[in-house]
Amino acid sequence: MTDSIIIDDREVPIAAGQTIMEAARAAGIYIEHLCYNPQYAPHGSCKLCTVKVDGVMQTACTMPALPGQVVECSSPELEQRRETLVEMIFAEGNHYCPFCIKSGNCDLQALAYHLGMHENNFNHRYPVRTIDASHSDLILDHDRCIFCGLCISASRDTDQKNVFAMAGRGKATRVVVNSDSGKLGDSDITLDDAAAHICPVGAIMPRAGAYATPIGERYFDDHDIDEIDNASGKL
Ligand code: SF4
Ligand code: FES
Repeated sequence: MTDSIIIDDREVPIAAGQTIMEAARAAGIYIEHLCYNPQYAPHGSCKLCTVKVDGVMQTACTMPALPGQVVECSSPELEQRRETLVEMIFAEGNHYCPFCIKSGNCDLQALAYHLGMHENNFNHRYPVRTIDASHSDLILDHDRCIFCGLCISASRDTDQKNVFAMAGRGKATRVVVNSDSGKLGDSDITLDDAAAHICPVGAIMPRAGAYATPIGERYFDDHDIDEIDNASGKL
């Protein structure tokens, strides 16, 4: 007999070692997320994937799926909590969607649409952050960083380079670059690296081709982020 869990009244089979996120995705159930990417070990930083497991809040990307669990994934309470988290992320950085080159391909923007965010209940902090334009092929715009850590995982685990790391705490948290000058242009990263393309927002962007796809024809312009379409490369 196959082991299973219940997600929002639906029986979902589980395999040994799966997390709740993995079991849900295998069953075609979308759970909101930003820092999760199936290629890399989850680290549970964004909290967007928080669900209730047997009545207790847990992050679905890190919580092991165990037989008999009852998981509440979609509820007004959890959706309100996710919208609040997204509002906080927008407030703590400098996200100017109308003129961001990632608009229409950005997971944060797409989540805001998905969750029905029409306003922000938090005061924007407008932090002073820098743009690193030292690389010939890539831009690192700290304004848009949401500290998901995916560039760190991709550079370490796929590119075998360790170009990125996280430094500082609280408001001072920053992605830092492993080079003598601390600049991207002096690091080992190249345009072919996974880390150059993993950023779910517009913080690490290739310079060339930014507007090759016009606004209106970009992925999230006609897809909701809850559509699981592996062929698209979106999660
Ligand atoms: S630069 Fe992009 S991938 Fe790296 S931590 Fe920031 S948001 Fe995530
Ligand atoms: S996706 Fe689970 S904590 Fe970010």
